[in-house]
Amino acid sequence: MHCVHLAELHSAAPAPRGREGTSYQGGAAYTAVGYWWRDIILEPSVVAVKPTMAGALGIGAQAVLRFTRFFYFHSLPPLILGLVYMSMRRDYLFQHCVRDYSTPEALKYKDGCDSMADHRFTKAALWTDNLTDPGLWEPSPYLIAEKLLKSQTGKRNVAPDYSLFMTSWINLQIHDWFNHNVTDEDPYKVQWGPNDEDIFKLRKTVFDSEGIADNIETPWWDASEIYGTSEERAASLRVGDKKCELRVDDDGFMPLGPNGIPEGGSIRNWWAGLESLTLLFVKEHNYLCEQLRKENSTLSEEDLYQTARLIVAALNARIHTIEWTPALFGNELMNITMHNNWEGLNKAFTDHLLKELHHLGWIPREIIKFVTDMVEKGLPYSRGVGHNVDLDRVPYSLSEDFVSSYRMHPLLPDLYKIDGDSVGAEEMINEKARDVMMKFGNSKILDAFGHQPPTTLTLNNYPDFLTKVNIPGENGPRNMAVVDILRDRERGMVRYNQARRQYGLQAIADFEDLSDDKEVVEAVKSVYKSVEDIDFMVGLLAESPRPKGFIITDTSFYVFIMNASRRLMCDRFYQESYNPDFYTKWGFNHVETTTFKSMILRHYPELEDSIGDVPGGNAFYAWKGTPKYGGLAPVAASLQAPDGVSEL
Ligand code: HEM
Repeated sequence: MHCVHLAELHSAAPAPRGREGTSYQGGAAYTAVGYWWRDIILEPSVVAVKPTMAGALGIGAQAVLRFTRFFYFHSLPPLILGLVYMSMRRDYLFQHCVRDYSTPEALKYKDGCDSMADHRFTKAALWTDNLTDPGLWEPSPYLIAEKLLKSQTGKRNVAPDYSLFMTSWINLQIHDWFNHNVTDEDPYKVQWGPNDEDIFKLRKTVFDSEGIADNIETPWWDASEIYGTSEERAASLRVGDKKCELRVDDDGFMPLGPNGIPEGGSIRNWWAGLESLTLLFVKEHNYLCEQLRKENSTLSEEDLYQTARLIVAALNARIHTIEWTPALFGNELMNITMHNNWEGLNKAFTDHLLKELHHLGWIPREIIKFVTDMVEKGLPYSRGVGHNVDLDRVPYSLSEDFVSSYRMHPLLPDLYKIDGDSVGAEEMINEKARDVMMKFGNSKILDAFGHQPPTTLTLNNYPDFLTKVNIPGENGPRNMAVVDILRDRERGMVRYNQARRQYGLQAIADFEDLSDDKEVVEAVKSVYKSVEDIDFMVGLLAESPRPKGFIITDTSFYVFIMNASRRLMCDRFYQESYNPDFYTKWGFNHVETTTFKSMILRHYPELEDSIGDVPGGNAFYAWKGTPKYGGLAPVAASLQAPDGVSEL
């Protein structure tokens, strides 16, 4: 819901538009070096005609990439190798997998807020090479849910190094980015349990005449999860007659709608984790109104609101880019890389690079200088926000692959410990979320989420409560594990192996290539006849080994680098309009200095000792202080985690 209101306000600064149709705007050095490397590594025929030393290096790297299933340059030293590798990979994905699915309407940036939602999903990987789509029902989604997704032991694995904000934060973000439209007509009849009568009706996805689905959220990083996707919704959430502030009731919570779920931007599939973070951002918005009013006495209420909204969206984007994502990847290279995505080349990067080059000893000083100069002139890979919009030929949209790789329901625990009480997940969802918020208050919920770990993104770790969950407006309980598999198939998401091929990765030849865990291999084999049939989601959960520190798998990493980069590169509010003119001087500085931790402490200062000394000040890691409320031990036992997996 990015409006151009501020562009009009600052009439001296005309509203820049996306540059559809412009070519890739990489620096000259990068274009020469980057494309050449890509050709060498990814196009074997080119190697034959480039018999240079670098060509030999290219052959080596190519051999590694082509004949090694998972080779993790991006988590291995030296840093420069990892960066070159990722740069090439991203470049390859931009060239081969970012496709133009835009309608003529979607091609234009429009001024109205609600028009921005009308984007078609794209597809990064397609059915080609004579591999046909095995269709909706093969193998049975229920069988997959039962044998591969559901926990076989009644226990869940947890990731003890992280806080549960890894889960609630990403849930909030996806509500900003995408949602599919469904129809009541002729629903699927889907098996959800062992008996014949265990059938639920699942609405079909709406496709246009070309078989493409519409994204009914705005794909822009515009905080539509807080403000809504239509102007009407946005207006209805504001105090009085279009004041800057968002509505909060006297009890400190967001007003409730008729169904007992708060009035908010995106309130589907509601649970206390979403309500807690949404309330935090509503408080932040109202704090911004107050501060901006003090700092900019001439701004109207409308201008204050628009500015506060831009700032909140940018806080989401920045915290996600330099805090949530580095935690997800958990290694130094990715930390530096994600900081580069926002800040451009930074001192940490150049210091690290120089250290590595010095370690190699024999590299002449001139080469060090050359590399440093080249890097400082700005590779597109590391140019950060605040430059020119770069659509790289293709109008911005998100891909079905991106939605699929965020099917992260296994991150949700079945049991929560809040203020010493055990709360089942089913008591936290839909209208019951408010009961939990009222009973404990947001401070206790934030405290609890800081100290409870998320469950892991692995096979046989699906939340039990989601296998028989009631969703408002739906007809009876549904098994979300079945829905996850079906939806990917219905929306044309290719199967795992086909996706790997299309992302330029080595396809797996045998089930044994999928994982180094024999039990996982046997389980997958028991369901699928061929490796070509393995569903995308199953492959992502099964794949191992994983790169050092990664919560997700190597394959999903490539979907993220493609979409996450474009989300910043294509949006003028993170490029040419990301400046104090649009955000105000105070607001711009606020975005650049706020962290997730500082935002929590601004509104809940009593949690300072509870957060404690988290690594890098990143509150997505497990909080290190003493819990403020109730005492949480033994968290692992409460999650029924198997021995040895989750000691805290
Ligand atoms: C209690 C919490 C949650 C509930 C009750 C819930 C429930 C649902 C439901 C009912 C759907 C729509 C299914 C359909 O296609 O018919 C859905 C879709 C989805 N959920 Fe969740 N979910 C929860 C949390 C999460 C979390 C933590 C994530 C992690 C990122 C997540 C990721 C997704 C994705 C990617 C989709 C597909 C969205 C689309 O179709 O565009 N959900 N969820």
